[in-house]
Amino acid sequence: MTGDRRSGPGGPAEPDEQWSLLSPATTVFDFDYTGGRDQLLRLYDKGTRRQWIAKDRLDWSVDIDLDNPLGLPAELNPVAETKWWADMDERRRGEMRHHVEAWRFSQFMHGEQGALICTAKIVQTVPDIDSKFYAATQVIDEARHVEVYSRYLHEKLQLVYPLNRNLKSLLDDVISDSRWDMTYLGMQVLVEGLALAAFGFIRNTATEPLGKAINAYVMQDEARHVTFGRLALRDYYPQLTQAERDEREEFCVDACYRMRDRFLGEEVFERLELPPELTTYVAESEMQKRFRGFLFMRIVPVLKDIGLWGPRITRAFDDMGVLGFADSDLDAEMANDEAAAEALDRERMAHVRAVAGADAAG
Ligand SMILES: [Fe+2]
Ligand SMILES: [Fe+2]
Repeated sequence: MTGDRRSGPGGPAEPDEQWSLLSPATTVFDFDYTGGRDQLLRLYDKGTRRQWIAKDRLDWSVDIDLDNPLGLPAELNPVAETKWWADMDERRRGEMRHHVEAWRFSQFMHGEQGALICTAKIVQTVPDIDSKFYAATQVIDEARHVEVYSRYLHEKLQLVYPLNRNLKSLLDDVISDSRWDMTYLGMQVLVEGLALAAFGFIRNTATEPLGKAINAYVMQDEARHVTFGRLALRDYYPQLTQAERDEREEFCVDACYRMRDRFLGEEVFERLELPPELTTYVAESEMQKRFRGFLFMRIVPVLKDIGLWGPRITRAFDDMGVLGFADSDLDAEMANDEAAAEALDRERMAHVRAVAGADAAG
């Protein structure tokens, strides 16, 4: 399925300026205003209290080294061991690091816009008022996520890539589906689950403070979103028939293979005119596949938790070598995501105080 492109209000749009697609939905009113589930209402309360303002919480004044935007250690570069890397001069290596991060953050930004759109749709379609309340807080979280990634890309990296076609086709499948649970499953569990693992990688390894903090703060919000998806789907999936659950498992398996094997950043290689063998290496090398397997560390335990855990899924995850993530402690991960963001807040406050103290002394 592909969506049609239409002109924007101000005349014909550039090819990638806009993307319009049909998003069928049944809007549900819930008149049982008093029937909220305690856990969901507590999450709504937390989501409301934990709002933050990107301009204030992050220090946007830092300069970024475009040749190594995140300050990642050399050993984390997936092509560092190859002959193509060895053949590049320093200028070319810097250019590649810049483009790789611009590509990666661009996909985060576009994916967050997908989340913004999907969460707004969930407000409409989810049948329970407590879920509508919570989803409303998530809408503004997702808007903020688009805002921070966009600002980082436009102001700091000064380079933006279009939406990757495989991510686009996944968003298309999710948004074109009229069933409310598919919006959750595709967006909250799969796309955001993948993103969460990638954010975590950056938060834990980047030495550049702005990129690190952006990802830590986004993760703090995402921890609530994952909890929301788990609470909603854990109640719903046992009510479906086995055939209905099988269909959802099939969708997850297909999406996971698609994202592992075809979401590789070839656009960067093409734009920089790097040898095509490099794409083949990244796509096929066992080590690279294992490395991409880490992107599933947040998805696997959630699928198990919500009861999509039949032979289709377990076989696929076994084949991908990611079944071991099934038993990770989701609540502990989420608590850790919150603690990491709070630790950065404390560091930033200490820094602000130290600067103010030095100014006053001077
Ligand atoms: Fe998000
Ligand atoms: Fe989210």
